[in-house]
Amino acid sequence: MSDLSAEQSEWLAKIAAASDAAAVEALRVAALGKSGAITQKLKALGQMDPEARKVAGAALNVLREAVSAALSARKDSLEAAELDAKLAAEAVDVTLPVEPARLGTVHPVSQVMDELAEIFADLGFAVATGPEIEDDWHNFTALNIPESHPARAMHDTFYFPEQLAKEGRRFLLRTHTSPVQIRTMMSQEPPIRIIAPGRVYRSDSDATHTPMFHQVEGLVIDRGIHMGHLKWTLETFIKAFFEVDDVTLRFRPSYFPFTEPSAEVDVGCSWEGGTLKIGGESSWLEILGSGMVHPRVISACGLDPEEWQGFAFGVGIDRLAMLKYGMTDLRAFFDGDVRWLKHYGFSPLAVPTLSGGVGA
Ligand code: PHE
Repeated sequence: MSDLSAEQSEWLAKIAAASDAAAVEALRVAALGKSGAITQKLKALGQMDPEARKVAGAALNVLREAVSAALSARKDSLEAAELDAKLAAEAVDVTLPVEPARLGTVHPVSQVMDELAEIFADLGFAVATGPEIEDDWHNFTALNIPESHPARAMHDTFYFPEQLAKEGRRFLLRTHTSPVQIRTMMSQEPPIRIIAPGRVYRSDSDATHTPMFHQVEGLVIDRGIHMGHLKWTLETFIKAFFEVDDVTLRFRPSYFPFTEPSAEVDVGCSWEGGTLKIGGESSWLEILGSGMVHPRVISACGLDPEEWQGFAFGVGIDRLAMLKYGMTDLRAFFDGDVRWLKHYGFSPLAVPTLSGGVGA
């Protein structure tokens, strides 16, 4: 009997020391397997006389039960520890920041729009918007382009079907951002200083024209506004945008139905090793249309042109982006080719600011 209790302590010590599931299994086989030590002892009971077998059998059963219980308890605790370790190793800390992988880029058109907003915000201009699906009153009539006017035909307009017209107004895709001038003057009290960047549409397509492109409109309405204000504003804008101080602007008399007088503005450029650089005066690039807002446009918006004057300008944003960042084919802007976007796109963190720079 005392033999057996010593043996039991020995087994229990070994089981407690088993460090993994394989060691526990090896001990089970050694003790309770077919030819295990305890199994052998149980088998030997058969040779004993009935009295001795009764006593020894009971004692052996106690041993067997104790070892078997210790084995399964050890197995359970090892499994639980293993699971805890696995959970700890695979734990995900959802409060950690995402991997800083750069997956996308900001399109140059969006970047330039942000640059424009930044430059003009510093001059006190707010950003205004208007619908891309316009009506012909806002896009043409209120801008002093009546139905019979040749400028309507010149705009290569995408019209919506006649049947959709409402209150005599035909819907169309806006051909320029100038209707935002009208919407702003009709919804806001002067003085007004806004820019309106956005998409515009014309049925036109070749290497330098796409059916959809981008413009930014500028509008100032106040008392006593004159061409000098227009000129200073455009010069300040172009210098800030191209980050060059020696820019020469050339104002050429022109015609727009909604401005009088009107001027087209060219920026002085020079060739440097095959690329056109802003600055110098060896070559001129037309970049925008501008002028003093026509008194008829001011009246159409319900304002008195004797009291309120202003200037307006319209610039092609895609053109500005090409000039500043050196892209040569406008069509690539709208192909959605990831290689192009990787090359010409901007980091989402490269937010243009006047203090940090609006350049590349
Ligand atoms: N809307 C004109 C265009 O698309 C540009 C412009 C805007 C001209 C404002 C003068 C004043 O060509």
